[in-house]
Formats: sequence, structure tokens, C-alpha cells
Amino acid sequence: MSTYQVGYFVGSLSSTSINRILSRALIKLAPADLQFTEIPIGDLPLYSPDFDADYPPAARALKEAIGRASAVLFVTPEYNRSIPGALKNAIDWASRPWGQNSFNHMPAAVIGASPGQIGTALAQQSLRGVLSFCNARQMTAPEAYISLRPGLITDDGEVTDDSTATFLSDFMREFRDHIERVLTVLPRD
Ligand code: FNR
Repeated sequence: MSTYQVGYFVGSLSSTSINRILSRALIKLAPADLQFTEIPIGDLPLYSPDFDADYPPAARALKEAIGRASAVLFVTPEYNRSIPGALKNAIDWASRPWGQNSFNHMPAAVIGASPGQIGTALAQQSLRGVLSFCNARQMTAPEAYISLRPGLITDDGEVTDDSTATFLSDFMREFRDHIERVLTVLPRD
């Protein structure tokens, strides 16, 4: 059985992030052949092309972490109906310098949680557009817009509702199958 290294991004810098809580649940519910490492985004300076000739250590670490991954998972809030700036900044760093786009052909999936009813749908739509331009190989379905009411997932990632747990574990199983399909056609070096 192959093991796939999944690098995951939490699109929130909040110390009480519900998306980090969601990421814990996803890791617990994922198939055993997925192994997870968070790719941190909080220490990155704002991207500028001025850095292209000599990336700072945090940005080098970001690109190296993506380089070690077989796939990437984005677990993100919605900010003002779009992608949180910290996450977009990380993607911009990873996509450059020109010709060294870290997301090229990378298997990817997007999910997010909000307290509201639309569960980050618009942020995910924005993110999907960005990842398309970056040529990431996204899982298109299932989509997952998680409306996270208090208590649905405990702080350490236990899902308290059976249908939500089934939905999230199905999502991760589909992601695993998607990774396998993409890497069969487009193996990473
Ligand atoms: C929000 N929030 C929010 N929620 C939403 O459903 N759609 C939105 O467009 C926004 N916009 C927004 C902007 C900003 C700047 C903040 C701080 C918050 C609310 C958001 O869903 C809520 O704060 C979540 O808890 C954020 O996720 P994390 O940080 O807890 O993972």
C-alpha cells in the first residue's frame, strides 16, 4: 500500500480557529494511508517580486514543505466572501518565482468551515480559481461547505454528529482516491 504525504494549509491565523478544529477532525477520519503535515503560513512576510532572486527563510521553508508533499489540502475560512489574505499570500509565494510554481500538477482539495449557513462556499470558489491558474489538480467533487455550530466538533477533533462524521470521512476517502488517480498519471519526482 502506498502512503501519501498530505501537506495541509489552515487558512486562519486565529488561535481559536474553527478551521483548525475541522482539520483535526479530517485527519482523524482520513484513510490510514494518508499522512498529514501542516504547512504553516503565519510567519511569511508579504510577497513581493523583489524577493524572487533570493527568497527569505520562511518562504523557502514553505516551498520545501510543499515539495515534500504528495498532495495539498486547504482548510480555510471565508473572509469578506473571499480567501483570507494570509492564505492568498502563501499561495502567491508558493507559485513563484516564475517557472518554479510549487502547485504545478499537485493533487489538491479544498474545504472550509464558517459559523454561517454558506460554509465558506464563496471563499472556496475564489480559491478554486486561484488553484486552477496555479495548475493544481483539484478534486472537483465532493464539495464540502461546513456550517460549524458550537459542539459539532470538539476542540481535539471528535465529530459529535454521525452524519457529519460520515460526510467528512467520505470526503477524505474521495480525496485519497483522487490523489491516487492524479499521481498515477502525473507522478511527482
Ligand atoms: C469573517 N467571517 C465570515 N464568515 C462568512 O461566512 N463569510 C464571510 O465573508 C466572512 N467574513 C469575515 C471576515 C473577517 C475579516 C473575519 C475575521 C471573519 C466570519 C468567520 O466565518 C468566522 O470568524 C470564522 O470563525 C473564521 O474561521 P476561523 O478563523 O475560526 O477558522
